[in-house]
Amino acid sequence: MKPIFTAEAVHKSFNDPKNGVSLRALGGLSLEIRQGEFVSIIGPSGSGKTTLLYLLAGFLRPDSGKLLYRGEEVRGPSPERTVIFQEYGLFPWKTAAGNVEFPLKARCMPAAARRAEALKYISMVHLDGFADKYPHQLSGGMKQRVGIARALACDPKVVLMDEPFAALDNITRELLQEEILRLWSGLGKTFVLVTHHLEEAIFMSRRIILMSSRPGRVKEVVDIDLPEPRTADIKTHPRFVELKSRLTRSLREEVEKSIAAGIEPELVKDKGVIRVSR
Ligand SMILES: Nc1ncnc2c1ncn2[C@@H]1O[C@H](COP(=O)(O)OP(=O)(O)O)[C@@H](O)[C@H]1O
Ligand SMILES: [Mg+2]
Repeated sequence: MKPIFTAEAVHKSFNDPKNGVSLRALGGLSLEIRQGEFVSIIGPSGSGKTTLLYLLAGFLRPDSGKLLYRGEEVRGPSPERTVIFQEYGLFPWKTAAGNVEFPLKARCMPAAARRAEALKYISMVHLDGFADKYPHQLSGGMKQRVGIARALACDPKVVLMDEPFAALDNITRELLQEEILRLWSGLGKTFVLVTHHLEEAIFMSRRIILMSSRPGRVKEVVDIDLPEPRTADIKTHPRFVELKSRLTRSLREEVEKSIAAGIEPELVKDKGVIRVSR
């Protein structure tokens, strides 16, 4: 399959405002993401997952190395590559439909067509009847559905997701995972999920890219060769259990390296990582 993204030896550092030193977030990261695939990026907190996602989105530029999208250097954001954030990022003064319409307005779509398009995507994420509700009238799961509808309404080629379910309870999280998989298999778009929830990554992905502790590089790439279609009971499949224990070991090694290097003190508070080390 053709790569949609190619990263070669990408380096990215930030100036740490606390002590004025430069902090290496990514240290020579190389990877390929294939057109139309569902791929997850996992790694310890602070390993540069969000940085990588923002580079793919074009919000950040590499300090050195190459980052190509469909063969061309990523020079900035593009409506072809949309991001779904953990915090939903909805406008509180706009209704669900108003939020979904917003990016369409930026593309100069006339009002009536915009509304129709927004309602189509609202229905796609099963929020019929909630189009005219404001974010404060919606549950966390519903808000994230609006976020997903808004992202898809732009008809992007790539959907980039940064811990999109982290603020949700487990049942809502599982429902949304299934929902996103359904959308992915019907839409033919490339989905890139950043998560440190291993089960989620295995359940949803066709490939997992495991990052090293900081400075982030690709430690390994694992094909998730599980039977299709993915249903909730796949989590008890022997291959699922095997992949989970193998990836847990590998991720744990990196988390331990981060702790030993004193890289990310907040790591111990990180629920996702505690789950992994159990
Ligand atoms: N804008 C920024 N300014 C300074 N440091 C940053 C910035 N963004 C990220 N970092 C640092 O870079 C490292 C990687 O961050 P991030 O990509 O958010 O990791 P992850 O998403 O894997 O937890 C962290 O140590 C983080 O504190
Ligand atoms: Mg992050």
